[in-house]
Amino acid sequence: KYVDALPQMPKILGYGIGPFGFPVPINLTIGMYHTTWQFHRNMTPTPVFVYGQSLQTATFPGPTIVARHNVPLYVTWENHLPDAHILPSLDRTIDVAIPKNGGVPTVVHLHGAAQAPDSDGHALAWFTRDFAEKGSTWTKKTYTYPNVQPAAGNIWYHDHALGLTRASLLAGLLAAYIVEWPELEMPFNLPSGEFDLHLVIADRQFNANGTIYMNSTGVVPSVHPQWNPEYFGEVITVNGKAWPYLRVQRRRYRLRILNASNARYLNIRFSNGLPFTVIASDASYLSAPVTVSNLLLSPAEIFDVIVDFSLAPEATEIEMLNSAPYPYPTGNATNPDLDGKVMKFLLAPKGQLDDMPLPDNSTVPEHRTRYIVLYENMTKPDNLTMNLYINGLRLEDPPTETPRSGTTELWHVINLTPDNHPLHLHLAEFQAVKMQQLVDPDTFTSCMKQHNDTVICNLDQHAVGALLPVPEEEKTWKNVVKLPPAYVTSVVVAFRLVHNNMPYPFDATAAPGYVYHCHSIQTKNAISNGGPRRAHLVG
Ligand code: C2O
Repeated sequence: KYVDALPQMPKILGYGIGPFGFPVPINLTIGMYHTTWQFHRNMTPTPVFVYGQSLQTATFPGPTIVARHNVPLYVTWENHLPDAHILPSLDRTIDVAIPKNGGVPTVVHLHGAAQAPDSDGHALAWFTRDFAEKGSTWTKKTYTYPNVQPAAGNIWYHDHALGLTRASLLAGLLAAYIVEWPELEMPFNLPSGEFDLHLVIADRQFNANGTIYMNSTGVVPSVHPQWNPEYFGEVITVNGKAWPYLRVQRRRYRLRILNASNARYLNIRFSNGLPFTVIASDASYLSAPVTVSNLLLSPAEIFDVIVDFSLAPEATEIEMLNSAPYPYPTGNATNPDLDGKVMKFLLAPKGQLDDMPLPDNSTVPEHRTRYIVLYENMTKPDNLTMNLYINGLRLEDPPTETPRSGTTELWHVINLTPDNHPLHLHLAEFQAVKMQQLVDPDTFTSCMKQHNDTVICNLDQHAVGALLPVPEEEKTWKNVVKLPPAYVTSVVVAFRLVHNNMPYPFDATAAPGYVYHCHSIQTKNAISNGGPRRAHLVG
């Protein structure tokens, strides 16, 4: 541990500079490549699938795209991947993209951004090398990213192909994306340049020969020869290095922390108790900074924090530790020597401190209420493995959530599974406003499985348990909200631009609509396996 320096991924500007110094739209071409990556100085290089502008510059994670608020970016995503996947991914017993003539189906989703459906990376809009074969909702090679979401647009892009997402993310098809808004952010006086860093954290398991280990025998091999519900690795990588170190000055740093693990939650803290000052989460700033001693990140969740290393005058080394059980919250404890460690900071002398005013995050009126129920059921007809259903429906079923563009809704999301689930909505920004425990969740769950109706099953009488406060650092517009088991998590969902309350400046109502899903991407019927729900905007 702590022998490789933390790298920063290459940055690609997502805009050009026009005649009067104004940013202007540009076209980028980014490819997916099969190459190798050195996760640790003593390891054999690992075969990976990664993003880059060329084979030589492709990295794990891929390059960070730095876009500008309101300046559209056009990206042509190219698939240069070989005929077969490097990980055991093709399980025909789940919904999976299968090309007729080989190749690895891929499609890119810019997670947390607002873009038109045909640029959203729908799971069936996949394509293979040189666009040789395409999925049923594929329409175009070049995607348009309007970059209209608010500042602190800490988002990311990753593969989203049907039935392959779990393997293609493990292989390395993931990267950070920032939407800058200099006019708005300049006055905050946040650390910038070399003091503004990404930490993209992902767990992996490796074979002795350096290849990524992925379990290739299914939980019930007679039914699912390969598919497994969750992936956990005991090696924690940050920016593609196993347990790296970073030399820091005794001053403030901005750390944009993304949990890019498939299924692992992270509960991070510093070994000396140094606080995190959270300024933003996912795609927006908090209305005021919140200081915490630990941060819980579900898969796909992002916290943007200020860490002031001058507050630890005695320390010379500080470890970042992880204590989240896996699966979260009731699974195995972390091993203090393996997945219990994330990285180390080595402190050098001298620094300074400045002030941080932040924008207001105004609250919004609600327009319509929906009940969204997550529960597990046995697969039919074999009755052997678990499916995660949302309102008892699957991706293939017609959309039932049909919000109007420009509106705000209140969704009561009821988690009837034993695990915490990271809920992710495409397009919309949302935030938890209330978390209330169910009393007698078992009776309610069996009634819901039978009737699928919150009125018949008396939700009112069950949703009266203990209230869990929404953590201060999560009170902002987010792309991922954690759903504790046996709780009703009420979220305000904005189907509009949250910084100016305007409708989307593109047709968000077009086919195929948007999906929403649990982002534990090994969970059957989450994105990896074809069963998220569709929210189709109307009007
Ligand atoms: Cu991270 Cu459906 O996406």
